[in-house]
Amino acid sequence: MINVALPKGRLGEKVYDIFEKAGYACPTIREPNRRLTFENEEAGVRYFWVKPSDVAIYVERGAADIGVAGKDILLEYGPDIYELLDLQMGKCRMCVAGPKEFRDDPVRTLRVATKFPNIAKTYYSAMSREIDIIKLNGSIELAPILGLSDVIVDIVETGSTLRENGLAPLEDIVDISARLVANKAIFKFKGDDIMTLCERVSRVIAKD
Ligand code: PRP
Repeated sequence: MINVALPKGRLGEKVYDIFEKAGYACPTIREPNRRLTFENEEAGVRYFWVKPSDVAIYVERGAADIGVAGKDILLEYGPDIYELLDLQMGKCRMCVAGPKEFRDDPVRTLRVATKFPNIAKTYYSAMSREIDIIKLNGSIELAPILGLSDVIVDIVETGSTLRENGLAPLEDIVDISARLVANKAIFKFKGDDIMTLCERVSRVIAKD
């Protein structure tokens, strides 16, 4: 049995469609209810709906054998897990964004609001830029609008949240997409089954 942590939400549902096409169906998952675990013994698979930002924790601690996590979460938390496959889904960019007319004044400490303090610190320390991190949990775009920060480090997908709030992307940090990840210790004894799944899933992605 392979235990799979799927990110709850639209991305997770798309990922499940791929897994189903790859031969790991679990039809009860499509029933409209609030259950969080689903099993198909015949297909050798058990799914859990997990909050997207928690998938890496479940996998790192072995509560799930494999899972699907955004590269943003992997970069931010640096979990000790294997990254097996880029699923080419949930694509977006990690950016510095702010008012269109923003010009950085290097003599002032730059105030950066973000949900991703480690990504922001790594990015700015590589250019020896002194920053003050303001850690927020959502609606990050508000920070520069209200003068809480100069810029934000955040995910940009369509760019409409920035546009509709009078902000713009200023610098690209890294491309993000969903990754298939695995627990390192579990991979030692379920490696064959996990690699079979990985190959089947990548064949489905290649066809799509
Ligand atoms: C994310 C991100 C941006 C938005 C970007 O927020 O933090 O706010 O999506 O998408 P767009 O470029 O397509 O507009 P999310 O929806 O996760 O909500 P949050 O404000 O709670 O972080």
